[in-house]
Amino acid sequence: PPHDIAVIVGSIRKGSLTRQLAEALIALAPESLRLRLVEIGDLALFNPDLDEGTPPESWTHFRAAIASADGILFVTPEHNRSIPAALKNALDIGSRPWGKNHWAGKPAAVVSGSPGALGGFGANHQLRQILVVLDMPAMAQPEAYLGHLGQAFDAGGNLTEDRTRAHLQAVMQAFAGWVARQAA
Ligand code: FNR
Repeated sequence: PPHDIAVIVGSIRKGSLTRQLAEALIALAPESLRLRLVEIGDLALFNPDLDEGTPPESWTHFRAAIASADGILFVTPEHNRSIPAALKNALDIGSRPWGKNHWAGKPAAVVSGSPGALGGFGANHQLRQILVVLDMPAMAQPEAYLGHLGQAFDAGGNLTEDRTRAHLQAVMQAFAGWVARQAA
């Protein structure tokens, strides 16, 4: 059976280029992966007090979606050389309440993108640092820093460059292998 992958997009904006990138990655994935977007835009801001009673329903749904996944694909933009606050919020919510880290052991891949030239390198690696404490084995290669995202898609959301498509396909192929290896 295919492995279930939760895809988390670090931008919550309607016209997000990163979401387009995530959709391109989903379309290019091999059949051994079943990918679904897990939304982070409606999550209440993390506050441990809210775990004292009944936590917000949005948190419970999110935690269940993470817990049931076989792996996580992060696709993120960069905000001020780091990950967006919405993504950090989601990571924190998934890591709690204390003693219940819903991310633990999930194989992960990180793809970053930016309309600028640097491809979200800072966000990509700051996220990788966080994945260490969350106990998520993150695929090392191939790396994926997509620069000039503003030119990457045509009006229909299709990738404009063959070499970009080939690279993203290679990333998804490698991730499928990574997930299978961790599951074995
Ligand atoms: C940005 N942007 C940005 N880009 C970048 O390459 N490095 C950075 O450090 C930042 N910093 C930053 C901070 C804040 C608060 C915003 C709103 C934006 C630009 C960013 O890459 C651009 O807005 C992308 O379009 C964001 O991705 P989405 O929302 O299109 O997916």
